[in-house]
Amino acid sequence: MLEILTYPDKRLRNKSENVRSFDAKLHDLLDQMYMTMIAKNGVGLAAIQVGVPLRALIINLPDENGDQSIKNLIEVINPEIITKEGSIKFNEGCLSVPEYYDDVERFSDIVVRFKDRFGSDKELEAKEYLAVAFQHEMDHLEGNLFIDRISIMKRKKFEKELKKNRKKKL
Ligand code: CO
Repeated sequence: MLEILTYPDKRLRNKSENVRSFDAKLHDLLDQMYMTMIAKNGVGLAAIQVGVPLRALIINLPDENGDQSIKNLIEVINPEIITKEGSIKFNEGCLSVPEYYDDVERFSDIVVRFKDRFGSDKELEAKEYLAVAFQHEMDHLEGNLFIDRISIMKRKKFEKELKKNRKKKL
């Protein structure tokens, strides 16, 4: 299993680079990311969260029965948002920001173009939860975190709590 970087680790602020080789090394990374994400009960993970600054991410949302099936796993390489509209407020969390959740406003309907692990072109229309997941994970590729999108007041409170909790652990 891979180690997940957590805030305020500076590596999370790196801007990720395009994937150029759709080779066994990439496939191994994606497989390891999947195992790590499932072990940590996550629904999405970007490569930079395991310290690899490549534009690769995975999303695996639970289905209507709440089951997180590998059938619904989406592997996303070098994504681009083609169209975006509408808005949705969603309570987000992140494996790199443990134990913190907050409402973030995102586009509710997007069309994304990306490549799969073999370098084939894909296009997908994503709505609501899936649209939120894409935008959250794509933020990671730019070195952004969902806590950058909350209000200054909430952010200050979050930073204060983080310091307090760190002291406790000493
Ligand atoms: Co995240």
